[in-house]
Amino acid sequence: MSMRKNIVAGNWKMNKNLQEGIALAKELNEALKEKSVHCDVIIGTPFIHLASVVDVVDSNHIGVAAQNCADKAAGAYTGEVSAAMVASTGAKYVILGHSERRAYYHETPEILKEKVLLALANGLTPIFCIGEVLEERVSGKHFEVVKSQMEASLFDLPANDFGKIILAYEPVWAIGTGKTATAAQAQEMHAFIREALTGKYGAAVAGNASILYGGSCNAANAKELFSNPDVDGGLIGGASLSVDKFMPIIEAF
Ligand code: PGA
Repeated sequence: MSMRKNIVAGNWKMNKNLQEGIALAKELNEALKEKSVHCDVIIGTPFIHLASVVDVVDSNHIGVAAQNCADKAAGAYTGEVSAAMVASTGAKYVILGHSERRAYYHETPEILKEKVLLALANGLTPIFCIGEVLEERVSGKHFEVVKSQMEASLFDLPANDFGKIILAYEPVWAIGTGKTATAAQAQEMHAFIREALTGKYGAAVAGNASILYGGSCNAANAKELFSNPDVDGGLIGGASLSVDKFMPIIEAF
């Protein structure tokens, strides 16, 4: 079982063409060579970038993630990309359950459960996103929502498989809105998540789990967010699209 790690992961979403993506990956790789940083760094690129980005980064400094994978292993599923294909590029991670996938592509907890199993079976580390929408927070259902997202997609896993997963708490109302959760709101939810993991898998698994915060995380707020005892890093969208904005978040550790 892996020990708890500090992690800063970028999620490029549907940005950067292939040449731009390779250039960004190279620039980040160069920047990281000159620094000794205190966290793992991951970049989540579009599928078509994966193999090329893996080629240009030093795997000691940067891990590469897909942003999705299919819920089927192989076969006649036109347009889909399997977990095995992602792994064959050299990518080591896959972001699953992002709120944009849940909302726009109708990914249900059951579908996500299949994706998690296929990712693990192919040696990929899932970065599994959970988080409530604004109405759920306003009506006080946010804890319940986050717990049921974990229960429905992850809690059938045996402890040693669950131990491989990185969690990302991303309140949907904070994603791309410039509205960050306060450090206290993030810590409160992360502590709740860790407590739920303790109840399900015991204190050792819960203590080793990396729980990232995502949602308008940037150079100005990263230090305060990451200083919370249960916030083990960030999943960064907009601010991962340039080295100038991403590096200071990495250096917040
Ligand atoms: P944001 O996105 O940093 O642009 O808010 C975070 C995410 O969706 O992972």
